[in-house]
Amino acid sequence: MMADQPELHRGLMNVYMDNTESSFIDGDIGKLLYRGYDIHDLAEKSTFEEIVYLVLYGELPNHAQLEELDGYLRANRRIPDEIITVIDAVQSAHPMDVLQTAMIGLAAFDEESEDNSKEANIRKALRLTAKAPTIVTAHHRVRSGLEPVAPNPDLNHAGNFLFMLFNEIPDDETVSLMDVDFILHAEHGVNASSFAARVSASTNSTLHAAVSGAVGALKGPAHGGAAEEVMKMSIEIGNPENAEEYARKKLDNRERIMGFGHRVYRAEDPRARHLRERSQALGEKRGDPRWFQILTHLSEDVMAPYRDRGIYVNVDFYAGSIYHLLGIPSDLFIPIFALGRVPGWSAQCIEQYENNILLRPRLHYVGPMDREYVPIDER
Ligand code: ACO
Repeated sequence: MMADQPELHRGLMNVYMDNTESSFIDGDIGKLLYRGYDIHDLAEKSTFEEIVYLVLYGELPNHAQLEELDGYLRANRRIPDEIITVIDAVQSAHPMDVLQTAMIGLAAFDEESEDNSKEANIRKALRLTAKAPTIVTAHHRVRSGLEPVAPNPDLNHAGNFLFMLFNEIPDDETVSLMDVDFILHAEHGVNASSFAARVSASTNSTLHAAVSGAVGALKGPAHGGAAEEVMKMSIEIGNPENAEEYARKKLDNRERIMGFGHRVYRAEDPRARHLRERSQALGEKRGDPRWFQILTHLSEDVMAPYRDRGIYVNVDFYAGSIYHLLGIPSDLFIPIFALGRVPGWSAQCIEQYENNILLRPRLHYVGPMDREYVPIDER
């Protein structure tokens, strides 16, 4: 006999599975705090290095603490030659698949890879944070027939990403833009990729396994892939006058407009504001305001009625236009999200390890019961 239908929580929507001290989200009013600090203050006043410290240690660093962390990141950006060889071998794969492969590969070169103590996990989180941009940029250069660029110890995290990608010292303004982008992506509760990381951590698997698994979960267009999709859409739209017709057709076909909607936010994603301002400023500076105009037309006109249903722009909506204007290839948009999120994934895992319980929900079986096995010759 089939069991009675239990109450299902499909998509685990609105299910609270644990307590956290990492970040707070109030989706109804669009509020986001990292460790109690408002994302707007952090985006305007902080640096990614400071955020890495905050997310992993729970407090803002003082000068000495920040200097030590920054020095550790600068000292740990290089990746082993063997990992470059792996990247070379799998170079035709999507950059997220390459990032995932290289990240798990790094476990082979990390003496603490099997040590799940909090101290070791924080050190590993810092090393993974430091090395992730080196992986993504080395892959892009290898697949473009170019030599990878070694990290530059004189540059910060955001500066190194840009330097290793373009082999040019970036200007301060572009570094600051990238820095804010990394800050905005650093931590966001138990979203799909952090949940994937926590599931691995809940089995007491290692941080390398958990974080590389999170990279896989982030790859999908319902999560990290939206920035790339938004840019593709903007290119298809071509100019602001076409935006309305394009979007209406999609909506009439019950298709989604990428960069809108969020599982938790029923108001504007508070991270979007910072990228909106920067997308506009960068478009004007580069003499190419078209992308911002298309996006504004979509959000302010076409999609405005959807606000009544709680559908607003999310963090990915303006991000793609910024990366595009910076000359970053579109399949690197999701890896950029991942580079910012490594500290958040790690902090989520560290919380999971500290108060661990195996994450193992149940599925209600609705298939046939007690069927008779028929030998293969009689089927
Ligand atoms: N465009 C048009 N309609 C939408 C959109 C959208 N972008 N998002 C949701 N809706 C509609 C759905 O069609 C659905 O309508 P219905 O009730 O008439 O069927 C309703 O809103 C609820 O949608 P769900 O998918 O049930 O809501 P959920 O919370 O699961 O969706 C999600 C969240 C997956 C992010 C969704 O909004 C979406 O697909 N957005 C586009 C992709 C995107 O931008 N993803 C990035 C998310 S942010 C991040 O990960 C960093």
